[in-house]
Amino acid sequence: MVAAAVRWIGGVDGFLELIDQRRLPGRLIRLKCRDTKQLYEAIKTLTVRGAPAIGVAVAYGLVLAAQKFDVRCSVPDAFKRLKKDADCLRLSRPTAVNLSWALDRVIRAVGKVVAANPKTNLQLLRKIIMKEAKAIYQEDVEMCRRIGRNGQKFIKNGDGILTHCNAGALATAGRGTALSVMFEAHKKGKKFKVYVDETRPLLQGARLTAWELKQAKIDVVVICDNMAGWLMKQDKISAVITGADRIAANGDAANKIGTYSLSVLARGHGIPFYLAAPSSTFDLSIKSGDQIPIEQRAADEVRFLGKERITPDGVEIYNPAFDITEARDITAIITERGVIEKPSLKKIAEHFKLTGN
Ligand code: MRU
Repeated sequence: MVAAAVRWIGGVDGFLELIDQRRLPGRLIRLKCRDTKQLYEAIKTLTVRGAPAIGVAVAYGLVLAAQKFDVRCSVPDAFKRLKKDADCLRLSRPTAVNLSWALDRVIRAVGKVVAANPKTNLQLLRKIIMKEAKAIYQEDVEMCRRIGRNGQKFIKNGDGILTHCNAGALATAGRGTALSVMFEAHKKGKKFKVYVDETRPLLQGARLTAWELKQAKIDVVVICDNMAGWLMKQDKISAVITGADRIAANGDAANKIGTYSLSVLARGHGIPFYLAAPSSTFDLSIKSGDQIPIEQRAADEVRFLGKERITPDGVEIYNPAFDITEARDITAIITERGVIEKPSLKKIAEHFKLTGN
């Protein structure tokens, strides 16, 4: 596995270490993150990115927030402060639900203790936050492993797999979601090729996914985003496997802009389309993809290629970071609990009920 994208160093007084993903594949730089303001910026600028990795990062972000509690502060006041910091972090990116999921989970854990014993002390509060953040981290590592095991059967010898963006180790605490499926199939000795969409405008596919797959010695070919349909037409693609940022109760799923087009192309060519995602990516509080907020990003991400301006002055730019793939175009969702074939409201509800969520 490639170096850890998100890692906590030390005890409750420690710091968060992030790989600066903006610099990959050219340079592997680790940044020390010591407060929530710095973390907010790191998430916003995609220094750390990928839905599960963002969730883990903000959970540890609350440990950083707790380090700043004033020693004279009462426990209820400290809790109020913590919730405020969580709300700030929540605003960093709107689409990936893992972010609010992780923040809510830590806040809930602290809330329970505060409610049971308002006279508890700040030191204990810090320990609870740390414990919950660590649990989120460790569970994510395990979820990735299980997703790989549950999904590897969808890759066969001789396959050509198409993926989009980066749903690998860099996007999680473990070895990824979509890429975990590929790593597991590779471990089992299967021979296949992975076509990676470059993923404009920020090139997560070309820069990050290709980097991870190359290190794992998996046969990788980078293509431009507009080539996918033609590859399908030529029978080079046996399946599409991507990650997800938020999955609604009916199975509609947000993922990196361009995923929707792939799902429609896959349907048109009769190619299976798989999503790999942990349960922390499901948002069962919303009925369908229409309710998923789509992040709009800065025009300059499209306007420039590196330092080079590629559009004429004054031309309008549209830069949504995600799109919604409709449940009807998803062959199956691979989770750490199993596989949801032809996802629907009923199937997803059953999946979580049967597996005890
Ligand atoms: O904007 P990004 O790079 O954070 O987008 C990431 C994706 O779209 C991933 O596919 C998704 O978060 C799943 S990561 C396991």
